[in-house]
Amino acid sequence: MLNTSVEVFAPATVANLGVGFDILGLALCEPGDIVRVERRSEPGAVIVHIDGDHGMLPYDPQKNTACVAANEALRLIGVTEGVEITLHKRLPLASGLGSSAASAVAAAVAVNALYGEPLSLAELMPACLAGEAAVSGWHADNVAPCLFGGILLISGASSEMINRLPVPPSLFLALVTPDVFIPTAMARSVLPQMVSLREMVSQTAAVARLVDAIHRGDVAAMGAAMESDGVIEPARSHLMPLLHEVRAAAHAVGAHGIVISGAGPTLCAVCSDEAQAQRTALAMSAVYDAAGMSNVSRVSRVAEQGARVLRVE
Ligand code: HSE
Repeated sequence: MLNTSVEVFAPATVANLGVGFDILGLALCEPGDIVRVERRSEPGAVIVHIDGDHGMLPYDPQKNTACVAANEALRLIGVTEGVEITLHKRLPLASGLGSSAASAVAAAVAVNALYGEPLSLAELMPACLAGEAAVSGWHADNVAPCLFGGILLISGASSEMINRLPVPPSLFLALVTPDVFIPTAMARSVLPQMVSLREMVSQTAAVARLVDAIHRGDVAAMGAAMESDGVIEPARSHLMPLLHEVRAAAHAVGAHGIVISGAGPTLCAVCSDEAQAQRTALAMSAVYDAAGMSNVSRVSRVAEQGARVLRVE
């Protein structure tokens, strides 16, 4: 039977995990973007409706991440007809939660489902990356966990370069997003182009400790390793309001580590049970509240599954 429309949910993601700049990322259970695609007889993807973005996202097919990904998915599948896209934006923009990746992944997965899933998730990666690259530069640490779920080590874009790491059973994340807009491209522009040999050794050691801790399910060691970033966080910390105060508040209630989620401003705390994560989320949020900054806090586990089809008609 011919599908006429498909709706897909794609989750928020936390990229970098502190020390793993551009090579580590994980999927959250909630929130996420929802994309609906519907067949149209003319070629190409067009955006027909966007909500939840406060009018900020472009309808231009070259500039909209969902549209770029959908067009690339159509090309990979080899169909000449097109799709109409409706984007229900549920993730805050430029917030460090993988918003552009979620829209791109949801659109690519929806187009694939519309045609009976001719492509595997791995084969959809280039379409998702094209969408992400159109707005925030080439990096796969949001796109890959959004597509596949779990905690991923991403050393390249092809599936053999993506390793799924075990999710520690006791891991909970507490996240707080202050109402600040930090486009990824801007947060990448402040990074150093060169690092010293000493910094390289220290950062490499921290990534190795982190991957080891994840494999051992040691959440406390995970948090400590994530926080040992001596390259990216120092270069970006001036963009993250109250980072040090939020870190102190999170540690005071037992969190094992706190890092910038992706390019920020969301901050992500590593916790080893749900009650601790709830306490941490409240403590982090209270720092922004006291400073009069509006913010949203969340608690989530890692989602083992990435984007999922909600409805096919
Ligand atoms: N690795 C990317 C960065 C993630 O930190 O710039 C952006 O969400």
